[in-house]
Amino acid sequence: MKNVIVVDHPLVQHKLSLMRRKETPTAMFRQLIREISMLLGYEVTRDLPMGTERIQTPIMEMEAPVLTGKKLVFISVLRAGNGLLEGMLDLIPSARVGHVGLYRDPETLVAIEYYFKVPDELEERPIIVVDPMLATANSSIAAVQRIKEAGGKHIKMVCLLAAPEGIEAFHEAHPEVPIITAAIDEGLNDHAYIVPGLGDAGDRIYGTK
Ligand code: PRP
Ligand code: URA
Repeated sequence: MKNVIVVDHPLVQHKLSLMRRKETPTAMFRQLIREISMLLGYEVTRDLPMGTERIQTPIMEMEAPVLTGKKLVFISVLRAGNGLLEGMLDLIPSARVGHVGLYRDPETLVAIEYYFKVPDELEERPIIVVDPMLATANSSIAAVQRIKEAGGKHIKMVCLLAAPEGIEAFHEAHPEVPIITAAIDEGLNDHAYIVPGLGDAGDRIYGTK
């Protein structure tokens, strides 16, 4: 699939299987999503702009590689996005953070926005949008649309699970935005849940069901 990266690292795949198991308790699910997000974060940040800085080691001076440019922004699609956000922030503690509050109407599946707050100078920053589930993609399409309206340009989308129909819809709306995912599942069921999936990501992270 064009512009989709599946992170098939054994650690990612093993942790994802643990998360899918319905008997995995909330605390363990939360720990696993934090761990897996660090591994996805490693992949999604591999092309961050680099420069060098003159430093002194205990032995001698050297030109050492360092990150350059405006600070990266993670934008979490509430609320399940916060599960992925934690691990990403462990990896890059200095990153800025934005939030897009959206919920999927259970009847119409339309994404309803209830909150939007992002850092300034968005147009100059690398942006990583995090939401564990790309099902119909209504939520992520709406989130990225809002981010673009706020000036965002250099955007990547990170999820845990994506449905093929969600990927297609997302790339119809935002063809230039790469999707980084741990797996592409079979499809959607009658309630537009990903199958085999892992259930409702927000409920599993926060123990609300
Ligand atoms: C879930 C999930 C995504 C969305 C995916 O959020 O976290 O945001 O559904 O579905 P879609 O691709 O069909 O739009 P939900 O609406 O359940 O809200 P929550 O994160 O607050 O639980
Ligand atoms: N939202 C979820 O949390 N899970 C799905 O499978 C689909 C949408």
